[in-house]
Amino acid sequence: MAAMNTNNLGTSTISSLSSAFLAPTSFNSRARSVPVRVKRIGVIKCVAAPQQEQTVYQTNVSRNANMAKLQAGYLFPEIARRRAAHLQKYPNAQVISLGIGDTTEPIPEVITSAMAKRCLGLSTLEGYSGYGAEQGEKLLRAAIASTFYSNLGIEEDDIFVSDGAKCDISRLQLLFGSNVKMAVQDPSYPAYVDSSVIMGQTGQFQKDVQKYGNIEYMRCTPENGFFPDLSTVARTDIIFFCSPNNPTGAAANRDQLTQLVKFAKENGSIIVFDSAYAMYMSDDNPRTIFEIPGAKEVAIETSSFSKYAGFTGVRLGWTVVPKQLLFSDGFPVAKDFNRIVCTCFNGASNIPQAGGLACLSPEGLKAMQEVIGFYKENTKIIVDTFNSLGFKVYGGANAPYVWVHFPGRSSWDVFSEILEKTHVVTTPGSGFGPGGEGFIRVSAFGHRKNVLEACRRFKELYR
Ligand SMILES: Cc1ncc(COP(=O)(O)O)c(C=O)c1O
Repeated sequence: MAAMNTNNLGTSTISSLSSAFLAPTSFNSRARSVPVRVKRIGVIKCVAAPQQEQTVYQTNVSRNANMAKLQAGYLFPEIARRRAAHLQKYPNAQVISLGIGDTTEPIPEVITSAMAKRCLGLSTLEGYSGYGAEQGEKLLRAAIASTFYSNLGIEEDDIFVSDGAKCDISRLQLLFGSNVKMAVQDPSYPAYVDSSVIMGQTGQFQKDVQKYGNIEYMRCTPENGFFPDLSTVARTDIIFFCSPNNPTGAAANRDQLTQLVKFAKENGSIIVFDSAYAMYMSDDNPRTIFEIPGAKEVAIETSSFSKYAGFTGVRLGWTVVPKQLLFSDGFPVAKDFNRIVCTCFNGASNIPQAGGLACLSPEGLKAMQEVIGFYKENTKIIVDTFNSLGFKVYGGANAPYVWVHFPGRSSWDVFSEILEKTHVVTTPGSGFGPGGEGFIRVSAFGHRKNVLEACRRFKELYR
């Protein structure tokens, strides 16, 4: 990604008119040119799109055909590439990123000081530790169980501490292997589909429908309240389900999750429930799938400290595989997952684990709630902005994402329009699946002044 500072607004003003802006595209006629304050920055070097070197020698190793099925780049590097290209075009632009969903606020000191202490301890004989338990430190596993799953029958040994939910999604795919079929919400966080493609679970990408063969896309739209009509969903082995949802921001209620668990049980499927945003929940919806009776026999849950404590760079998450969850031959899923973890992963780094433990102390929990509260205020500012402009806006209440509808428009066109005219990076909804077409996702992760400035520019553009 381009190395640049987006924090301080400069003083000069440019009009962001360009030939691309003037070109007869499908841009909305409501859109205006926005005066944007800029500051001069250094030369931008795009590292997201490495230059193709001339091939002088080729090995005899054939490319993994599943890799070749993947479409373009992974969504977020592609956005980083476009942002870098934009900066090359407008080197002085004050670009604001409300795109990839990376956290921006500092990690509370109660958490970093615990990590610093553990880190310094590594320089002492008493404090040194090498490889730890692959499943995570006992104390942290116990703290995760009691903080997030108290009275739900989830125990310390059901928890596997990891270096993040995304890594666990891939390890879960490794566990399931190539011969399973999976279902995803459409739209959904791209890692589920892409890891499925890489594992060889899918057919080719079908351009006409923008879907991979052999994946069941469960359409989630405003019309169905972003919960799929399960009566039309085919049976699959695995069902990835994320609530509160990235990207739509929608959260499933108790009744809907009860339906989902029942559906999985009737079909003998396994749900992989992604609760990476559970602490953002304001409404009285379940924070974990294990609040639903019977879920322990059909569900795995993956989660993360990334969006709670600003651990996107620190890296720490966990996955719950209940001992009650069995394969069709009666073998416990957790035993195989343990084998995967021991083979492919040597356990989460000890320093983040000290941080994770601090997160779950009373002071740490309070500090995390404050950070989450800050992002929730950002969300409200963004929701209010788009509402005031007359857009239909979804999400926001239970997740740090705002899902804005641009009916009849291509989401990449809207993404480009916003970037071109306001220098704000968003995420095109179609990057999350065909069901995201016509939407953009605006992330609430940003410094307050940047969120306010972005909203000012949105108002200029669409008023
Ligand atoms: C739904 C969802 N799951 C998982 C992740 C990845 O989390 P981690 O940073 O723990 O890998 C993200 C990150 O944006 C996410 O949105």
